[in-house]
Amino acid sequence: MKNSGKKRVKWAQEHMPVLAEIRRQLKKDQPFQDLVISMALHVEPKTAVLALTLKDGGAEVYLTSCNPLSTQDDTVAYLKKSLPVYAKKGETEKELFAGYEAVLDKGPNIVIDDGSDMIALLHKPNRKDQISDILGASEETTTGIQRLRALEKQGKLLFPVMATNNAVMKHFFDNRYGTGQSTIDGILTGTNLTIAGKTAVVCGYGWCGRGIATRMRGMGANVIVTEVNPVKAIEALHDGFRVMPTTEAARQADFIITSTGNKGVIDAEALKNAKGGCILANSGHFNVEIDIHALEKMSEKTEREVRELVDAYYLKDGRIIYLLGEGRLVNLAVGQGHPAEIMDMSFSLQALAALYLAEHKGEMKNEVYEIPYALDSMVAKLKLKAMGVEIDELTEEQRKYIESWEL
Ligand SMILES: NC(=O)c1ccc[n+]([C@@H]2O[C@H](COP(=O)([O-])OP(=O)(O)OC[C@H]3O[C@@H](n4cnc5c(N)ncnc54)[C@H](O)[C@@H]3O)[C@@H](O)[C@H]2O)c1
Repeated sequence: MKNSGKKRVKWAQEHMPVLAEIRRQLKKDQPFQDLVISMALHVEPKTAVLALTLKDGGAEVYLTSCNPLSTQDDTVAYLKKSLPVYAKKGETEKELFAGYEAVLDKGPNIVIDDGSDMIALLHKPNRKDQISDILGASEETTTGIQRLRALEKQGKLLFPVMATNNAVMKHFFDNRYGTGQSTIDGILTGTNLTIAGKTAVVCGYGWCGRGIATRMRGMGANVIVTEVNPVKAIEALHDGFRVMPTTEAARQADFIITSTGNKGVIDAEALKNAKGGCILANSGHFNVEIDIHALEKMSEKTEREVRELVDAYYLKDGRIIYLLGEGRLVNLAVGQGHPAEIMDMSFSLQALAALYLAEHKGEMKNEVYEIPYALDSMVAKLKLKAMGVEIDELTEEQRKYIESWEL
């Protein structure tokens, strides 16, 4: 398609009304004047809308990817007309890290990261002279927040970080419904196979896992959930899913989908049990959830790209196991990522988190901050308005009844 980058960014923009409203205000107020913002996010149309929004707010914006396979090259080509972008689909790990270094070399005041690889580089001794210029960072995903909380606990966090992932209007919708829908998009794009009537094993029943399990069931799959957290396991049971250990579930699986944020979830033991023809996909942030090394060791032959982004592993015992998107997040590596309407909420919060950092310059500690509920609530109200949905309001009497009980 001619001008596909431009058209796809425009399409996303038209479906991101909350961010459009915030963009209008930022354009008027110019809160990011004289600030450099370096971003490491999946470089695709919705991210382009966020980058252009921050630029309209007065920032000098630099963008790189946070994953070697999630970049959409037509978005890069279009965005490069407005700001520097350092990403291409299928880049090596070395090129990915060179991208982080390139945007950090621009001397950012605010960094926006997804997974915290870039924030980790900013903590290296060779970057220590830059730290005084940093107002703070904003982190997009669960895995990144886990890493930053660990750093904070060790007293090693060098600047404030906004936990954008933890905002209600982010993970309730992005992690659950966004990942739920787009993981299916990735699996269908990769395989063009039937989901109905098949058995799908979903590893992890957190925000993402819940979304994936529910959507897979909606497509007619027989879903089994695996967990390590007993509460989540009971929740899955009460939602009507079967729950069992991963090694046992693998025997029945036509599809296995991981989204735990953990490593080695599909290990040699699970792979030993996996049914021939089983399709493995990961929707967690890093490509560590499926033990690809173990899969390689068990195989006598590997065939790259039997379909686009589908690799076949021919096991010594005759089974074939397929891996989607090299074990990288299937919804972005193979599919098109979350729907624009979902990223409207996530990226509105990213823009507001950056604004919060700019407005609270010098007032924040080197800690991980939750997004203030007022910002969540503002995004929720704008979203409802954009959807044309009205809700009731508490009467004064009801408010008093709820808030002021006395003995
Ligand atoms: N693909 C995407 O677009 C996308 C979007 C949002 C988040 N993520 C990523 O997905 C991952 C999960 O995010 P989340 O928000 O659902 O996290 P979460 O913390 O809500 O859920 C993770 C769940 O996995 C379970 N778990 C951990 N180890 C396990 C194991 N060995 N076996 C089975 N279950 C295990 C945990 O008990 C937890 O319930 C993270 O890496 C996150 O960064 C991806």
